[in-house]
Amino acid sequence: MKKIGILGGGQLGKMLCLAAADWDLEIYVLDTEGSPAQSYCKHFIAGDFNNYEDVVSFGFLVDILTIEIEHVNVKALKYLEKQGIAVHPNPNALETIKDKGLQKLFYQKHKLPTSKFQLLETITEGAVSLPCVWKSRSGGYDGKGVSVLKTADDLKKLPQEPCLIEELVAIEKEIAVIVARNEAGQVIAYPSVEMVFDPKANLLDYQLCPSNISKTVERKAQNLAKQLIKKFKLCGLLAVEMFLTKNGELLINEVAPRPHNSGHHTIEAIETSQFEQHLRAILNLPLGSTLMRKPSVLLNLVGAEGYTGEAVVDGFEKALNTEGVHVHLYGKRITKPFRKMGHVTILDRNVEKAVEKALNLKDTLRIISH
Ligand SMILES: Nc1ncnc2c1ncn2[C@@H]1O[C@H](COP(=O)(O)OP(=O)(O)O)[C@@H](O)[C@H]1O
Ligand SMILES: [Mg+2]
Repeated sequence: MKKIGILGGGQLGKMLCLAAADWDLEIYVLDTEGSPAQSYCKHFIAGDFNNYEDVVSFGFLVDILTIEIEHVNVKALKYLEKQGIAVHPNPNALETIKDKGLQKLFYQKHKLPTSKFQLLETITEGAVSLPCVWKSRSGGYDGKGVSVLKTADDLKKLPQEPCLIEELVAIEKEIAVIVARNEAGQVIAYPSVEMVFDPKANLLDYQLCPSNISKTVERKAQNLAKQLIKKFKLCGLLAVEMFLTKNGELLINEVAPRPHNSGHHTIEAIETSQFEQHLRAILNLPLGSTLMRKPSVLLNLVGAEGYTGEAVVDGFEKALNTEGVHVHLYGKRITKPFRKMGHVTILDRNVEKAVEKALNLKDTLRIISH
């Protein structure tokens, strides 16, 4: 079997390695010493996935290169592709997706539904009409590069850098669809998931599958995701975040060409996990079924407020005593407020019952430090 290299050894890289172990695949990972994936791959290379030389020399060790994070050196990937190494996602699509501004221009060019926007070199008071949403074009994640602007004062706190300004969408629901495509052109979508957000941390609070949306909207969302992965000509996974507006319109928010937080439930709740699917897709193997085994709730385990230091899991045994609860700990040594430390998937006969368990778990299972 071909050798696979993963740029990034965070939790997504670790879970890719765990899936690869089922088929005894030869996995190489590039990241800094002590990364979560380090103990789970056959070959760990210490280095910087943003550094041109590091990525090039890593790339020559493998047959297929993939990523678990977008912020990698694209110039090196373009060079490696020219040298005959398969790079998934393809570097051109990755370059577009890395920059939220280029993403929006791509949707506009392909007449795909997305919110109205403008691109600015830097934000000034006269240039925007309030309210609106300010986004850093790159570098932002987990809501850190996003700000809702309501008053002129809100503008003052922003960094002076190229930005994307979007109209403030009246959101009914936020959903996400993961879709996979292989080189043979086979395309398959997962059932959508519905996100529920914690307004304070601007971080996903929990997520439901199936989403509470009509069959028509579900079909539309899946079709939109399929269209996108074909337009980007990607092999592997594409996670598509969408807004269902108060008017019943579906808008693309942003995409990620890799395994995604919104797909963690697939490990237990769907026939084929997103990680196995990504491997199937980049190896050009037949794609796996995306049928739902059971309804699920996905809860992110983030560092509890007020605790910074060596991570300790509080309430682990109690959590394991609850039927249908599957705990995943990423192995990050240091916790800090809201850092993603793990996740829990809760399965039940219906989403309502799973939500009940999830809300209890939120109070009992916590990542703290001594
Ligand atoms: N145009 C918008 N209108 C309203 N809310 C938005 C808009 N864009 C983003 N948001 C909110 O901010 C969150 C984070 O934005 P997103 O672009 O997905 O950034 P991140 O890269 O941090 O995930 C979204 O999930 C949504 O809740
Ligand atoms: Mg997002």
